[in-house]
Amino acid sequence: MGEKTAIEIENPTPPVSRRKLLRFITALLGLFGMGAIFSSIIAFLTPPRSALKKVGGWQFVGTLSEFKENSLVKTYFGLPVILIKNGKGLFSFSTVCPHLGCIVIWDEKKKKFICPCHDAAFDEEGKVLKGPVKPYNLLPMEIKVEGERISLKLPEDKLPAYPSWFRITMISGV
Ligand code: FES
Repeated sequence: MGEKTAIEIENPTPPVSRRKLLRFITALLGLFGMGAIFSSIIAFLTPPRSALKKVGGWQFVGTLSEFKENSLVKTYFGLPVILIKNGKGLFSFSTVCPHLGCIVIWDEKKKKFICPCHDAAFDEEGKVLKGPVKPYNLLPMEIKVEGERISLKLPEDKLPAYPSWFRITMISGV
């Protein structure tokens, strides 16, 4: 009496139940699923360098004599881009506002580019003067003048300083 039989001896390590095992496998699959979703989002927000190379390269936009002094010339190559010739030289930049992507317009009276969406303002060289867009200037294009020929290029080295959505807009066009 009082002695335990072999059947009554308690098992110190209870076996893993089938329910616990299923829960563990489900959690593991969930983690893999979340990982796949996050990696897709990160890939979407980070444009690959190959995409930048696709839009890179110089594009001929006209000749020096075509552009009058103090003129604003809108040129397009997948993006709305402006080329300005004034007493200080040639300037070119994208007219996509780096705040939320509206297209800035030139205000002749104020001599400024104004964003119609949230009233940001930029000077004639594309530098931000006011608005919720600070610290971003209008994206300056690279300019190459060979004799009379003017060519423009998207500045790959300046793009990383801009928000992800803006970079995607620049490399895919608007
Ligand atoms: Fe230009 Fe908001 S989109 S200031």
